[in-house]
Amino acid sequence: MSENIYADELIDEYEHPHNKGSLSDADVHVHNDNPLCGDELTIYVKVGGGALKDVKFEGSGCVISMGTAGKLTESVKGKSLAEIEALGVPDIVTLIGIDPGPARLKCATLSLRTLKEAVFLYQHKAVDEATKRL
Ligand code: FES
Repeated sequence: MSENIYADELIDEYEHPHNKGSLSDADVHVHNDNPLCGDELTIYVKVGGGALKDVKFEGSGCVISMGTAGKLTESVKGKSLAEIEALGVPDIVTLIGIDPGPARLKCATLSLRTLKEAVFLYQHKAVDEATKRL
């Protein structure tokens, strides 16, 4: 697929997002923003049996940050917490199908950083360095 098709998919996800909203029975939620852009995001997670049972997000921002949040939350349902801890920038680039470039990388990784922080928080673990750098 060409990058244009992936860009169209991201715009479609932005306009019709998966998993938008809050989770009233969430185990944890984490809020983050991107101070350079003003985009902000809260991710709610529900865990069961060492895996992500449900995940939702609320927030506002650009096509890249919000479109990626919809795609990411949809892709991680049912994954183990260890699998989520291992996700990084290459996984986000693969997921959205476009290289956001250095100027927009933080926009694309806002949801991954927030999701991983929620997974660490649930386990009462310190956030690792790789996640802090996202
Ligand atoms: Fe959306 Fe950067 S412009 S997070």
